[in-house]
Amino acid sequence: MSIADLAETTAPRRSAPPEFSVVAPGRVNLIGEHTDYNDGLVLPMAIDRHVRCDVVRRSDRLMVLKSDRTDHPEISVDLDRPLAPLPLRGSWAAYPGGVVAGFQRLGWVIPGFNARISATLPPGAGLSSSAALEVCTATAIEVLCGKTLSLEDKALLCQRAEHEFAGVPCGIMDQFAVTFAKPGHALLLDCQTRHMVHVPLPADEVALLVIHTGVKHSLADGEYAKRRAECVSAARLMGVGSLRDLGVAEWRRLADALPDIEHRRSRHVVTEHERTLSFVDALQARNWQAAGEQMYGSHASLATDYEVSCLELDLLVELSRHIPGVFGCRMTGGGFGGCAVALVESSEAPRILKDFEREYRDRTGIDPLAFVTRPMGGATPIS
Ligand code: GLA
Repeated sequence: MSIADLAETTAPRRSAPPEFSVVAPGRVNLIGEHTDYNDGLVLPMAIDRHVRCDVVRRSDRLMVLKSDRTDHPEISVDLDRPLAPLPLRGSWAAYPGGVVAGFQRLGWVIPGFNARISATLPPGAGLSSSAALEVCTATAIEVLCGKTLSLEDKALLCQRAEHEFAGVPCGIMDQFAVTFAKPGHALLLDCQTRHMVHVPLPADEVALLVIHTGVKHSLADGEYAKRRAECVSAARLMGVGSLRDLGVAEWRRLADALPDIEHRRSRHVVTEHERTLSFVDALQARNWQAAGEQMYGSHASLATDYEVSCLELDLLVELSRHIPGVFGCRMTGGGFGGCAVALVESSEAPRILKDFEREYRDRTGIDPLAFVTRPMGGATPIS
């Protein structure tokens, strides 16, 4: 099957009102970056930007997807034929297609349906638009089939879709955040045990700003996979199963013998673990200044040791240091562009947002997409 075949479809019945809809949020990660695939800790939260899927059943056995994005051709998939990754690679159909394949593997018989996909979540911004699309599709399929997977199995099915169909060897953070998020809370997820704790973020005291550099982020370009491989290599050279198995003191004892790249990558991972724990302690103590310091530390480590930042992200973080009311700021997500997240005084958030926009525009000529956000719940059917 080719993309051309996929584009040849019966048009969805556009006039039919949806039988039901599903929304799935994007996420920002507050701290614990590039740690999920090292079995580490992450602290994402869902944001109030989402992917939405409006669904109508069909009488035949096709899944017909239409997106509001003009660069996304309509796609049609025969649900009776097992879906394979390669024909979909590089197309937006890879995400929903990979999810369908996951349910096919489980033996679910998915009824034919039309789905119209729309989003308030910017794509390619490092805010997990792909995980949101995957989990949105999976939740729609659950409703259509009248049964559910466990939330964990659903998130893992979506992660596998991303690995096999989109070709991105991501960790579990994004799909878990989109699935398990709770309003008013960040999600502390231990990627080794999959134990989760919802950590409150009091809206009357702190707000989160998301500022998009305007530089497009792409994880499939090989750098992400390279970082992952470098961590595996560092762990192997130090004789441990994963970098999670090392505390900072133990790492210091073993790391001298490492080549420079493995040394710096693993230093980021083991110190990020400590920063994440300190950040959570600071949140629980409502010590926002201390939490902010951990965010700055995380950014510096990602920029110098892990080398996944870029000039625009570094600039946003630098600017944040001179804006009153900002506690901390760092890049969020995979990096190489995308967004920064800032922890700020909630009463000052609108002014701080304007300060960011103005300063960034003055320095780069780019009008950044920036917004104040709050922690939302995970993916859910809405009617
Ligand atoms: C991307 C991946 C996640 C995670 C982050 C970096 O968002 O999808 O699994 O590795 O990068 O923390």
